[in-house]
Amino acid sequence: MHIMQTLTVGLNERSYPIHIGVNLLDRADLLLPHIPKKRAAIVSNTTVAPLYLDRLHATLAAQGVQIIPIVLPDGEEYKNAETLNLIYDALLTHRCERSTPLIALGGGVVGDMTGYAAATYLRGVPFIQIPTTLLAQVDSSVGGKTGINHPLGKNMIGAFYQPRVVLADIATLDTLPDRELRAGAAEVIKYGLIRDLPFYDWLEEHMEKLLARDGDALRYAIARSCENKAEVVAADERESGERALLNLGHTFGHAIETGMGYGVWLHGEGVAAGTIMAADLSLRLGWIATADLVRICRLFERAGLPVTAPALGAEKYLELMGLDKKVEGGRMRFVLLQSIGRAIVNGDVPETLLRETLEACCADD
Ligand code: NAD
Ligand code: GLY
Repeated sequence: MHIMQTLTVGLNERSYPIHIGVNLLDRADLLLPHIPKKRAAIVSNTTVAPLYLDRLHATLAAQGVQIIPIVLPDGEEYKNAETLNLIYDALLTHRCERSTPLIALGGGVVGDMTGYAAATYLRGVPFIQIPTTLLAQVDSSVGGKTGINHPLGKNMIGAFYQPRVVLADIATLDTLPDRELRAGAAEVIKYGLIRDLPFYDWLEEHMEKLLARDGDALRYAIARSCENKAEVVAADERESGERALLNLGHTFGHAIETGMGYGVWLHGEGVAAGTIMAADLSLRLGWIATADLVRICRLFERAGLPVTAPALGAEKYLELMGLDKKVEGGRMRFVLLQSIGRAIVNGDVPETLLRETLEACCADD
């Protein structure tokens, strides 16, 4: 069955399509225009490659495309310079040229690293995203943020580098573990919270269907998320304004991920607990009501996501959040809620309120 919906990320001559549907791994026609010399490298990992690499390889080999497979270790803890170097090693060993696209087949970790390799190898080669997690299909594969972690901070080394095409094959989500599906739901909820109240309402009605992997619910949630992301990226590709709103919960969430050790808390789990902290801070600033905070907590809980942050200690949180990419002139900036469906960036949060939020939202020691 081939049912497909196509959206566009509008960036003038760098505009590209996002195709959403089932069994897109069999659609050579969507990829061939971007593989002019019939040679491509597919970057995946030790979990996703055994599931889907042979199939994608067969799709392209049937059209005479020579494939260089590159299989990385799996995990956020491998999203680093050492693993990135494995990609460069393989590309150089196989004498890949400027015309050889890199195809990312996997979740956000594979996508972010492959994109950064594509941005930097030979100063830039074509890049294709085939995301296989819900999180990657709704967020990380779209918009061109690529990069790796540094021991001192998440995603601190990277580049803006847009893909030529995104293929979100919903059928690949059949094999995704439940915990990973839930982590993806955190980024879906984010779009509702920051700019799309009707979508938030829809999620309140359909969360259980989504988590049960109902095909229509997944398709709608992915498409609606990508529409939101594409609009934001088209308006502010390099995050000089509105794009920062996509980081709701991320300042706290990245601190959780880094503080706990990469891979202990999933990215989406950090975003979930971090979003509750951002909502709590918004409440303390008098912008949202207690009923809003309760409503938001309830949806994350129904999604099976954590709403309490780990007890890293206030000083550790403050230190880690001071490394956030949104820090300007040494001042922390937070994405906060003015209401459900409307977010803003604020650089004037009193430290006393921030400390109250850290106290209220973290688990007891
Ligand atoms: P991930 O890439 O680690 O994938 C999660 C797990 O699922 C991994 O073990 C992976 O091997 C496995 N997996 C992937 N697809 C599968 C499938 N179809 N079936 C079975 N297992 C599968 O994690 P993620 O949640 O996809 O991505 C998180 C990363 O994305 C973080 O590093 C985060 O910083 C990054 N991110 C980037 C952006 C961006 O704009 N670039 C946005 C959000 C998140
Ligand atoms: N995930 C945040 C962004 O793409 O800007």
